[in-house]
Amino acid sequence: MINVAVVGAGFMGSLHARCAARDPRANLAGIVDTNEESGRALAQRLDTKYLGTAEEALKEDIDAFIVALPDRLHVETSVKLLRNGRSVLLEKPMADTLDGARAIAEAASEGGGRLMIGHILRFDPRYAMAAEAVRRGDIGEVVHVSAGRLGTQSIGLKLNGSSSVCFYIGVHDVDAVQWITGKRIERVYSRAVSKIMPSHGVDSEDAIFSTVELAGGAIGHLFFGWSRPDTGPFSIDGRFEIVGTKGTLEVDVRDHGLRIFGPDGYKIPDGQHWPEVYGELNGDLQAEVGHFFESLKSGEPFTMSVDDAVRAVAVNDAILRSVESGQPETVTQV
Ligand SMILES: NC(=O)c1ccc[n+]([C@@H]2O[C@H](COP(=O)([O-])OP(=O)(O)OC[C@H]3O[C@@H](n4cnc5c(N)ncnc54)[C@H](O)[C@@H]3O)[C@@H](O)[C@H]2O)c1
Repeated sequence: MINVAVVGAGFMGSLHARCAARDPRANLAGIVDTNEESGRALAQRLDTKYLGTAEEALKEDIDAFIVALPDRLHVETSVKLLRNGRSVLLEKPMADTLDGARAIAEAASEGGGRLMIGHILRFDPRYAMAAEAVRRGDIGEVVHVSAGRLGTQSIGLKLNGSSSVCFYIGVHDVDAVQWITGKRIERVYSRAVSKIMPSHGVDSEDAIFSTVELAGGAIGHLFFGWSRPDTGPFSIDGRFEIVGTKGTLEVDVRDHGLRIFGPDGYKIPDGQHWPEVYGELNGDLQAEVGHFFESLKSGEPFTMSVDDAVRAVAVNDAILRSVESGQPETVTQV
């Protein structure tokens, strides 16, 4: 059994902890959160120990950690855990700066612990099958790609300026584009719009749109936002489309197949990422957490490399530079 603790008992950490608690390969050995109330509540619910800080957790017999801290706090804690020889499943984005991502990668290569970045779309069958179709040559050579996701305004309001929409939301699609096309994004031209968030006193963009150039001459369009009203039927409007020389490929994650119309309106619940079925979490997140444990046990490499995660951060770094400069910017090749 792998003794695992979850760091961060917020939205994602709670889901991770529930996945870890039901995995037969692991023992949920603790919940770490500096907010004692939420940390203790989750620990009690899952019948495990509450630990106040990562330092406290390092004194326990814990082999691996799932880190689900706010984006800007990924570096310090992950580096500490990795340097102490603990394996880490770190929520995306790997870090919210390129220097931060590099520091985590360095700690992983020197510290003895193994590092997996939790890019959940890698475990979404629709995206994984799209990647295989492109690899097989089903649509010929990639000509252009359009990818993005628009979350609801409440996500941006909750973040309250603590992270950019391109890190909290957009990094999913940045990685998907580079992974599925097999081509790196080399140059970006990005513009941001800020109307909704400032009207609520939040210093943040609502959305960032980018025109991108990929290696080998393909072009692309990336869109990320937390601009949609919360009254819509689904929480994430995600789309991914490629036109190739011989065919096209589309992923549409707005419709998960179940539509419910009731007194509160029309709802399309999540049927893919972390659906609750018979009281247990299922779906992509369960698969992601399971893959982490399975690879730790078998010694096999994780399905996604650390380098790929650093490359996604490098694209976001260029996107934010372009928003700032108003000019196209070159992606640092890492
Ligand atoms: N994979 C996905 O689809 C997905 C979806 C949402 C969020 N995320 C990612 O998950 C991560 C967490 O996001 P969230 O929305 O769950 O955040 P959150 O704000 O809901 O939770 C963060 C938790 O960390 C705790 N915390 C803060 N500082 C701490 C510290 N130093 N030590 C221990 N605990 C501390 C907070 O008290 C809080 O409980 C982010 O990196 C985010 O980008 C991923």
